[in-house]
Amino acid sequence: MRRAKAKGRSLEEKNNKFGRKGGEIMEFETLINPPQAVFEQIVRWTGETEDWGFQLDDYQFWSTSFDKFWLFTVVEKGTTNLVASLSLARWDVPNDTPLYSIGLFYCLQKYRGQSHGKVLFQKVMDIVGNENATLTGVVKMADKYASVFGFDKVADFWHNFSSIKIENLVIPEIVDQNYGTKNWSDVDQDLLHAYDSTICIRDRRKIQTAWFNMKNTFTKVVFNIKTNQIVGYSTIRIVSKNKLSVAPFYAENLESAKVLLAALLHHIPLVSSYASIGFLHPAINQNVIPLLESFAKTSGDVQSAPFIKSQFTKKFLDSPHEKVYSITDCAHQFV
Ligand SMILES: CC(C)(COP(=O)(O)OP(=O)(O)OC[C@H]1O[C@@H](n2cnc3c(N)ncnc32)[C@H](O)[C@@H]1OP(=O)(O)O)[C@@H](O)C(=O)NCCC(=O)NCCS
Repeated sequence: MRRAKAKGRSLEEKNNKFGRKGGEIMEFETLINPPQAVFEQIVRWTGETEDWGFQLDDYQFWSTSFDKFWLFTVVEKGTTNLVASLSLARWDVPNDTPLYSIGLFYCLQKYRGQSHGKVLFQKVMDIVGNENATLTGVVKMADKYASVFGFDKVADFWHNFSSIKIENLVIPEIVDQNYGTKNWSDVDQDLLHAYDSTICIRDRRKIQTAWFNMKNTFTKVVFNIKTNQIVGYSTIRIVSKNKLSVAPFYAENLESAKVLLAALLHHIPLVSSYASIGFLHPAINQNVIPLLESFAKTSGDVQSAPFIKSQFTKKFLDSPHEKVYSITDCAHQFV
């Protein structure tokens, strides 16, 4: 392979460039939909350096639940050693245009600033073309995605990451006459889907059902005892670094949210053996912090900070933020 010139290189050429590792010249190559072992490095590294939480089966889930899925990776040439990653999913629904979502944008710290990220990003944007695309941009990247790649249809609020360490978690005794809970599989699936469509304007029955069925994943539904109507549901997943990820959590009001969270935490075996529990929620939902505070030893035990922004290229897809206590999947969902 010819060494690319330092100046005027195309993005493609730059991606096949050379670098130095311990004085030795490195070459890189792009693998699309690489073996599972490469994905497992993404889970490990993003957990270590960014505190992101995934399951090892997420690659399989995205590959089979979306209409098309690409995992772009840069590796050290001739190996499966991860350098950088970016995933792209296409989600088709009847009577609407496809929605693309972009996630897992990551470069190993030692390889940052060498254009691996931007080159991968350009490749997925070439696939996206003129269709609508979404991502959840972290604080330091959100403006860059807007100005460089047109992700400028943005929420006017951040999604905060709010968490409690398990040693500070207390599950309150909740006696409530109004709300009851059921396991998701004991609920009429048409009704559950109908509730979900009040939260997410795109039909995601296939995606959510596959999500609920994943390993190390617990889902409960909360309903109004008098009317039998569904008023919320939530999934909690065991993810990287032994953490609990609340993904998603929807409820009509704070009272039903408390009933749902308590039931779900009681349902997870050995809940105290995990490291922490985290929510990724619209900062404008005023009920999230009160919910977490009622499950913490003291209000100071709830940590919360802006984390991501919901961004689109063509059209912002809105959702009822006051009912969203945590979104489903910050890699490939917008609510
Ligand atoms: C974001 C990340 C993947 C960029 O990878 P990288 O290979 O270091 O990026 P590049 O060398 O291609 O970046 C060159 C410049 O373009 C910017 N850039 C990279 N990708 C970009 C994108 N998709 N849109 C706009 N700007 C981008 C970089 O921030 C950098 O800007 P700077 O020169 O002002 O620092 C990397 O920094 C990383 O892994 N960060 C931690 C994980 C993270 O925050 N991911 C984003 C999640 S939304």
